[in-house]
Amino acid sequence: MSIIELEGIYTAYEGDDKPIIKDLTLRIDRGEYVVIGGPNSAGKTTLLESINGLVKITHGRATVCGLDVGRKGHEVRKKVGYVVQNFYFDPFTPFTTEQVVMMGRYGRLGLLKRPSEADYRAAERAIRLVGIEDLAQKTIGTLSGGQQQKVMIAHNLAKEPEVLLLDEPFSNLDFSAREYLQGILLGLVKGGTPIVTVSHAFDGLPDIRIHLVVMNDGRITKDIECSSRSVEDIVRESSFKRAM
Ligand SMILES: Nc1ncnc2c1ncn2[C@@H]1O[C@H](COP(=O)(O)OP(=O)(O)OP(=O)(O)O)[C@@H](O)[C@H]1O
Ligand SMILES: [Mg+2]
Repeated sequence: MSIIELEGIYTAYEGDDKPIIKDLTLRIDRGEYVVIGGPNSAGKTTLLESINGLVKITHGRATVCGLDVGRKGHEVRKKVGYVVQNFYFDPFTPFTTEQVVMMGRYGRLGLLKRPSEADYRAAERAIRLVGIEDLAQKTIGTLSGGQQQKVMIAHNLAKEPEVLLLDEPFSNLDFSAREYLQGILLGLVKGGTPIVTVSHAFDGLPDIRIHLVVMNDGRITKDIECSSRSVEDIVRESSFKRAM
C-alpha cells in the first residue's frame, strides 16, 4: 500500500457540483521526492489540501498512511506536515519562534498535554537544523517573510511527519537559504519521508529521481518519473501547450 493513495477523487470548497479537483488519481510512496507543477489556479494547493483533508472530498477514495482522509482528517493531519503557501502573522502575535516550533509537537503530546524532554529536544533539533537559533526568543510577527517561512519549516520538521507537503517553500527564501532547504529535504527523502512540493521554480532541485506531477484545470496532465534536470522543460512544455 502506498503512503498516499488518491483514486478518482473530486474535491470542492463550495458546492459539491463545483469541483476544483476532478477525477484525480495519484500514488506516492515512501522516499519519493514529488514535484507538483502547473500554471496558476491549476489546483496545486487544492491537491495538497485534499491530501491532508482540508477540503471536502466529494467522490473517490483517498487514504494517507492507511487512514481514510474524508473520515479521519484530524488523524491524517497529525501525521502530515504542511508548509502553507500564504500565511500572515499579525505583528502582535504573542508567540515566540521557540513556541511556534514547539507547537509542531502538539499532535504528539500525551494525555496530560505536557511536553516531554523528547518534545523539547525535537523542537531544538528543528531550530538548529533550519539555523534559526538567533530568532528563538523573538515573536513571530516581528520577523521578515523569509524568517517566518523558516520558522514554519522548523515547526513542520519538529513534528517529525510521515509525509511533508510544502507549497512554494522557496518563494521567500534567498539563494543560500534555498540551497540549504533543498539539503534538508534531500535528507528527509533519504530517510524515507516522502516530500511533496509545489513550486514554480525548479532550479536547485537535488540530483535524484523526481516524481513529477503536472496539473492543469484540476486534473493531472502528466505523472512521470524523471531526472531533476528535465523538470523545468517538461513543466514548461506541458503548461505552454495548454495555454495556447
Ligand atoms: N478557499 C477556496 N474557496 C473557493 N475556491 C477556491 C478556494 N481556494 C482555491 N479556490 C479555487 O480553486 C482553483 C484552484 O486554486 P489553487 O489555489 O489550488 O491553485 P494553484 O494551482 O495552487 O495556483 P497558484 O499557482 O496560483 O498558487 C482556483 O480557481 C481558485 O479560485
Ligand atoms: Mg497555490
